[in-house]
Amino acid sequence: MKKQTFIIGNKKTSVRFLPLSDLLSFDYKTVLAAFDTNTRKFFPNIIPVDEIVLDPGEITKKWDSVEAIISKAVDIGVARDSLFVGIGGGVVCDMTAFAGSIYMRGANTVLIPTTLLAMADAALGGKTGIDFLGYKNMVGTFSPASEVRVCIDLLDTLPDREYLSGLAEIIKHGLLRDTELLNILNNQHAAILARDHAVLSDLVERSIIVKAWYVEQDAVESGIRTHLNLGHTFGHALESVSNFEGFSHGEAVIWGIIKALKTGVLMGITDPSWLEEVLFLVEKYSYNLETPKNIESKAIIDALKKDKKKKGSAVHFVLQKNQGDTFLSPVDDSLLMEVI
Ligand SMILES: NC(=O)c1ccc[n+]([C@@H]2O[C@H](COP(=O)([O-])OP(=O)(O)OC[C@H]3O[C@@H](n4cnc5c(N)ncnc54)[C@H](O)[C@@H]3O)[C@@H](O)[C@H]2O)c1
Repeated sequence: MKKQTFIIGNKKTSVRFLPLSDLLSFDYKTVLAAFDTNTRKFFPNIIPVDEIVLDPGEITKKWDSVEAIISKAVDIGVARDSLFVGIGGGVVCDMTAFAGSIYMRGANTVLIPTTLLAMADAALGGKTGIDFLGYKNMVGTFSPASEVRVCIDLLDTLPDREYLSGLAEIIKHGLLRDTELLNILNNQHAAILARDHAVLSDLVERSIIVKAWYVEQDAVESGIRTHLNLGHTFGHALESVSNFEGFSHGEAVIWGIIKALKTGVLMGITDPSWLEEVLFLVEKYSYNLETPKNIESKAIIDALKKDKKKKGSAVHFVLQKNQGDTFLSPVDDSLLMEVI
């Protein structure tokens, strides 16, 4: 993919694969780039833009950081025709895009994702935001970036755990829509674990195309886009009862996908051989599918209900009959208890 343009809501997002040397070149008079302390290291020399550097990690995904970005923008005289640039994982991308979306009622944002998760998922689609009162992504906007710049070389330094976390979303995209993506994940797992750049480029590109297929049809997640939450309802509950420690987001998503497929099998809807196929694939990447012994099933079910409170209606789980055959359904507590 040299350059591809998607229409999300009424905005265009261009996706380009670029070398590191071209990532920070912009045709704007004022550019404010937000990094975290890890991603700032990719640019050891003087950079041609104004910058703000935040602490890394989910803990930084809060109002204070958005305020810091906006205060810096005011200090350096960012106007509405200036540019916000987020350079980092999903945390920096979500926060910078949020700051851009509310600054002077909306400024342009370019995202430069540096984790596999952000390249394959978070940077495209327009969801911006921060965590609030213990709820993930409770405050935010739908505001697609005008451009997403991908540089696969950046993935060389990503810790293994973060890498596998991002790979989980790519697996999810394969399950949802792309048989060839699943074939690559199944057949080239050694190259994928070795972070072969050509294979990774293909995986990220395919993943972006799957995500774009959903978000172009449903920018604000009122319908089919919810299918992208496959594994997330279960996964979020596990993340929240383990206090966001122990399981990375992607590990929790894989755990959740398997729970969703098992639920479907128990309901007599999911093809048991599809569950077997997915188990075979995720075991190749050594994802942990065990529910930690110290976590009670009831705590996870309570957390699922908290998700219900957040959404204001019964939780509808994303389930699958087979590859590419996805649907939403409520699930009885007794069944949930059995699966968890
Ligand atoms: N907007 C969306 O549609 C969407 C979708 C999925 C997830 N998200 C959000 O994404 C966030 C998670 O993103 P994440 O997993 O990228 O985590 P992250 O942004 O916290 O990054 C993980 C860690 O890796 C470091 N890092 C980033 N790039 C690196 C690199 N190339 N080499 C070495 N270290 C690097 C970061 O500094 C951080 O410490 C969550 O807040 C989640 O809600 C958003």
